[in-house]
Order: sequence, then structure tokens, then C-alpha cells
Amino acid sequence: MRNPHAGTPFDTSDAEIAAALTDVSIPTLMLSMLHMTGDASIIRAQERPMGSFLNEVQGFMSEEDKAAVRARALEVIADYRDQGCPEPEPLSPDLVHEMMEWLVVEDVGTEYVPMMLADLELDGIDHDVPDAPAGEAAATARAEFPVVVIGCGESGLLAGIRLTEAGIPFTIVEKNAGVGGTWWENTYPGARVDVGNHFYCYSFEPSDHWSEFFAQQPELQRYFQGVMEKYGVDRHVRWSTEVTSATWDDSSATWQVVVQPVGPDGELSGPTETLVARAVITATGQLNRPLVPDVAGSDDFAGPQFHTARWDHSIDLTGKRVAMIGAGATGFQVAPAICEQVERLTIFQRSAQWMFPNPNYHSKVGPGVRWALRHLPFYGRWYRFLLFWPGCDKGLEPARVDPDYTDDGGGQQTAISELSDAARAVFTDWIVSQIGDDPELIAKVVPDYPATGKRTLQDNGSWLKTLTRDDVELIRTGIDHIEADAVVTEGGVRHPCDVIVWATGFHHTKVLWPMDIVGRGGEALADVWGERPAAYLGITVPDFPNLFMMYGPGTHLAHGASLIFNSECQMHYIDQLLAELVDGGHRSVEPRPERLTEWHRRHQEEMSKLVWSQPSIEHSYFKNSAGEIHTVMPFRVVDYWHWTRQLDPADYEFT
Ligand SMILES: Cc1cc2nc3c(=O)[nH]c(=O)nc-3n(C[C@H](O)[C@H](O)[C@H](O)COP(=O)(O)OP(=O)(O)OC[C@H]3O[C@@H](n4cnc5c(N)ncnc54)[C@H](O)[C@@H]3O)c2cc1C
Ligand SMILES: NC(=O)c1ccc[n+]([C@@H]2O[C@H](COP(=O)([O-])OP(=O)(O)OC[C@H]3O[C@@H](n4cnc5c(N)ncnc54)[C@H](OP(=O)(O)O)[C@@H]3O)[C@@H](O)[C@H]2O)c1
Repeated sequence: MRNPHAGTPFDTSDAEIAAALTDVSIPTLMLSMLHMTGDASIIRAQERPMGSFLNEVQGFMSEEDKAAVRARALEVIADYRDQGCPEPEPLSPDLVHEMMEWLVVEDVGTEYVPMMLADLELDGIDHDVPDAPAGEAAATARAEFPVVVIGCGESGLLAGIRLTEAGIPFTIVEKNAGVGGTWWENTYPGARVDVGNHFYCYSFEPSDHWSEFFAQQPELQRYFQGVMEKYGVDRHVRWSTEVTSATWDDSSATWQVVVQPVGPDGELSGPTETLVARAVITATGQLNRPLVPDVAGSDDFAGPQFHTARWDHSIDLTGKRVAMIGAGATGFQVAPAICEQVERLTIFQRSAQWMFPNPNYHSKVGPGVRWALRHLPFYGRWYRFLLFWPGCDKGLEPARVDPDYTDDGGGQQTAISELSDAARAVFTDWIVSQIGDDPELIAKVVPDYPATGKRTLQDNGSWLKTLTRDDVELIRTGIDHIEADAVVTEGGVRHPCDVIVWATGFHHTKVLWPMDIVGRGGEALADVWGERPAAYLGITVPDFPNLFMMYGPGTHLAHGASLIFNSECQMHYIDQLLAELVDGGHRSVEPRPERLTEWHRRHQEEMSKLVWSQPSIEHSYFKNSAGEIHTVMPFRVVDYWHWTRQLDPADYEFT
């Protein structure tokens, strides 16, 4: 069978190929040419990328060099076509490593190579497909080991795909009426990813269909729908059904999972039912339970009000005065998308947000790129690498606190290291350059805390352009209360409005909330955790046997990669645990307590060295009420990949 990443054979004319080459990534194209020809001199010539930066896919090459490559590429591609588009010969590992470093113009350390090779899949093999059972007895044991997966966002869907491949029966319980989780619920105007879609997708299910580099919600939801149907996972899902509790029964080594239907209004309704499972995989996300702060008088508001993740599309905002409370990553997308439509938009923002330039943020994927993704050998794989690498671990360095550093104020209020100060300067220039001569607005939008101190937003100018409109106002004064027709800020200023949009984020720190999960000793996980949720590798917890978490505590990403990548790491690890557990004829598995203690100690130690936990970040959804962070991952992506790549059974107690 042809390597699925070798491209679909084509008979495109020279003129059409030449047209396609006008919008492709030239460095990526050159690597595809190397695959087509086997000629390594292509990357040893004068034309080459000059540097790498997140989402800069032309490697800062000059127009002259790009033109020269296009001319040569036309010959190479036409020749390849005329040969009948044969499947390229595999390249040597050393050459592939050289290609990696050439593409991103820097060292790709040997520890990164296995991870990147697995992700690139140049051999056309999905190495995450679970191992087949060793013999008939193991196959039977798997078939008699029902699993309940909670949630059908990208994590739960991935679990369903891998369990199908492993031959383990499963039911996915999903409170929504459809697949996608985040990408089902967040239908607010302007909702889109900020991790390029040719990376923000499953490594084993690339898509050459994205119409935008940063796709909007409907297209993302369609992607997950398509993947679900392709792998036949849909028939295992119980939609509009919520898991309210799960209790471990040690005598039968099963989880008793209580579920209840969810009505169209999102409320639980109808009789409960208990599903019996040998294991439970939680895939409930960390940004799934909307947070609406308790503001005095909000119940007295006479007009419609809703949270962004529960956008009420029956309300026509045309000609309305809209108050948007909160402006983090979500509000930042909503405001530009509705400002033209509404009569007036008043934005109440507690803290300013850091952002950095991404001119491609709203760009369409041109037909040439789509053609290349579909037909040119490994173009899509290298393009994925080009997006992955600059977003992989690079974000940790500016986030690392230099204890000896002091900023202009003599402390660490505005920067935590030289690098952080440099990032502050670059980001501030970007913000100020867009606003022009408006010191009042500049004072409102330049954050007073260190750069990258929260999730940094990507900007193509639309947010600040929105703020400069006459019919848009940014309020940085705190809200005192809400009245029937207005939001009133501290000091008593009334801001009349017809609709309130709450863009106030999620109950992120309450992991697995509000489910009641009761383990071996009869204790609830919520009580064990309190405000300090922790799981070994973010996946397993002592005394909670056969409970596996995806996107569990300590695995939220603030510095790069993508949460889909993290889910793939976690599911790969869970597959190994399941194989060891079931094929080994065990009843249950749980981590040794000292492993979790050590993991959590390291987690907290690392976290304390990073900008997110700095006291200068006064408000952050990462922090619990004591200002500690337990939900976010402080580790390098490459370390997490290695830790989850190979299960060490010695970390676990099997019974
Ligand atoms: C608006 C928005 C934009 C984002 N953009 C990015 C991005 O650009 N890049 C990135 O890497 N990440 C982004 N994220 C993070 C995003 O949540 C993850 O990328 C990813 O979608 C997480 O998938 P998941 O399946 O783990 O969780 P979710 O997508 O949250 O899915 C969890 C599912 O579990 C279900 N569920 C929860 N509790 C229960 C229960 N008790 N019973 C039954 N079902 C339950 C939910 O209904 C939901 O369908 C974004 C998040 C938001 C909110
Ligand atoms: N792909 C994307 O671009 C994208 C889009 C949306 C969401 N996301 C993901 O989802 C995460 C959450 O984003 P989000 O914007 O929904 O939530 P968020 O980042 O937590 O932002 C919530 C906003 O509400 C404010 N707020 C919260 N509680 C408040 C209170 N009690 N009083 C006043 N203001 C309050 C916050 O102010 P403070 O800042 O002062 O706390 C902030 O402005 C992001 O970090 C990201 O991971 C990604």
C-alpha cells in the first residue's frame, strides 16, 4: 500500500503546477523535492531558509531565492509526474535529521528526534496504534473488559479510536448532542484556533481541507465529526448524557458509573442509570464548565445575558448596545467579530492581555497550498513540523524566572529575566505601533505584568483596531454592580446596555468537577485533591484503580505545542497501561503513591520557577485561591513525550 503521506498521484499541467507554487511554503517545498528526487544537494545549495519563527513558513527567504526555487521545483515536479508519481524511497535517519535542522535553521537536539520522527510519520506508519493482544486469551480478556470514556471532545474521540484498535469494548458518555467538546460548545462569533490547523489536528489524520490556517469553529467541529465517522466511533457514543458519579467497587473490580440524560436546556433530567465498567477514561477537558462571576445585581438585568460558550444565537445583536464582561482569549476574538453589527460595544476588562503578531491569523489557505498538501510527497508532514518546532518548548525560556534579575522598578513586576524584558519590548512595540497617538488607550492595553505571564494571544491587528473605533469602549475600571439596563463601575459610572456577554472563562482549576468520583477507600477525589489536583503524569491517581485521565491535572499547555498532541501522548500511555493490565490478567492498576508524590513535587518546583506563578500576575485562571498552579504543565513537551512513550510497570501496583 502506498505511504499515505507520499501524496496522491497527479497529472496536473505545468501551468497549473506553476500557479500552485506561488503560494506554497518554499522551504517545505524544497524538502518535498528532496523526497521526490533523493537529491540531498537541494538543501545544500545557496537557497535556504534564514531563520524560523512561529507561523513564519517562508523561513525569511528572499523573493529572489524563492523565485529560483520555484523555477527548479517546476522541473522536478513535472519530471516526478511524468514518471507516474512513484512512492519515494525512504531517506536515511541522518539525512532526515539534517532536513529537520535545515528547515528550522537550528539544532534539533537528539532527544527531540524520536518525538519528531514519530510525529512526522515519514514511514507512513501510525506508531500509536495499540499493540495487538498477545494470543487468543489476551484477545478474549480484552473483549470482556468494558471501558467507559467520559466526554467526546478530541480526547474522548481519540480514546474511542484507540480502544477500537485495541479490541476493547467501550461506551463514550457525552453530555452534549455532538462531537467536538470545545469545538461543539464555543460557537461564539469569531471562535477559531490559535495553533495552526495543519498542526492542530491528529497526527494520524492530517487534513488537506482546512480553508483557513487558523480554522473557525464550524470547520473544526466538522473535522472531528468526519474523523468520528471514519473510525466508526459514533455508534459507541451516548449523546446528551452526563456522568454524575463514578464509584469503584473493589469486590468486583469495577466502576459503577451513574449517568443521566441532559435536556435541550443543558439541565439534567430524567432517570439515572448505572453503567458498569472495568476501567474509566476521563476526557472532560479543562475548559468545559463556564464561569460566570457573581456580580451584584446580575439577576436584575432585564435583557438577555449569556456566557460565550453558551452563545444565544436567537438574540440578534444588530443595533444593540452590548456589554462584554471579560476579555481574555475569547473576548479578544468576539469583539472584532461583532463590533460592526452592534450599535455600541463596551468591553470590561480586568487585566490587559499580552499578544504577539501573527499576520496569517485570519488568512485563507490558497489553492496552491491545498494542492501541495494533497499531492506533493511529505509536504504536509514537513509543514506540520515547521509549525510544531517553533511552538515546541521555545515558549518555556522567556517564561523562566531569573532569580537574580531585577526590572526597572527594582523587582520583577514587569519582567522576570533579560529575555522576558526583551519579549516585553517586542510585544509592546507591536501594540503601540497599531494604536498611534492615543496615550490613554496605550495605558489601558499594555499589561503591567511580565510578558507571557498568562496565555499569550495572537494578533493580526483586529483587536486593537476594534478598540480604536468610536462605537467601542474599553473600560478597565472594576464593575460595582449591574442594574436592569446598565453595568455600573466602581465610582458609580453607568454604562447602559441591552445585552450582556460574559466572556469570563471557565472553572479551569476544578478538574473533573462536578462529578463525584469515589475510589477504593470510599473517599471522593474532589476531597482528596481539594484545591491541589494532581495525578501521576496527569493520568493516574493512587486509590483510584483503573481510572485514567486525559488532559488531567498538570497537563494544560500555556507555552506551546497543542492539546491534541498532549492527548496523543496520554492515550499512547493509557494504551500501554490497559495492555499490561488486561493482557496480564490483572484486576486493577494504580500508581505507587510515591511516584505521584515525586511527580507533584517536581511539578510544583518547576512551576515556581516560571512566570505564570509570579505574584505580579494578580489575576490568572491558572491559579487557585492560594495563588498556586496545579493544572498547567511546567515541563518541556519533549520530556512529557518521553515519559509517556514507554510505560514503566514498576511505577504501578497491579492486583
Ligand atoms: C474557545 C477555545 C479555544 C481553544 N483553542 C485552542 C487552541 O487554539 N489550541 C489548543 O491547543 N487548545 C485550544 N483550546 C483548548 C481546548 O480545550 C483543547 O484544545 C481541546 O479541545 C480539549 O479537548 P478535550 O477533548 O480534552 O476537552 P473538551 O474539548 O473540553 O471536551 C470535553 C468533553 O467532555 C464532555 N463532558 C464533560 N464533563 C462531562 C460529564 N460529566 N459527562 C459527560 N460528558 C462530559 C464535554 O461536554 C465535552 O464534550 C481552546 C479552548 C477553548 C475554550
Ligand atoms: N484559540 C484561541 O485563540 C482561544 C480562544 C478562546 C479560548 N482559548 C483557550 O481558553 C482559555 C480561556 O480563555 P477565555 O477567554 O475563555 O477565559 P480567560 O482567559 O480566563 O478570560 C476571562 C476574562 O474574564 C475576566 N474575568 C474572569 N473573572 C472575572 C471577575 N470575577 N471579574 C472581572 N473579570 C473577570 C478575566 O480577567 P483577568 O484576566 O483579570 O483574570 C479575563 O479578562 C484560553 O487561555 C485558551 O487556552 C483559546
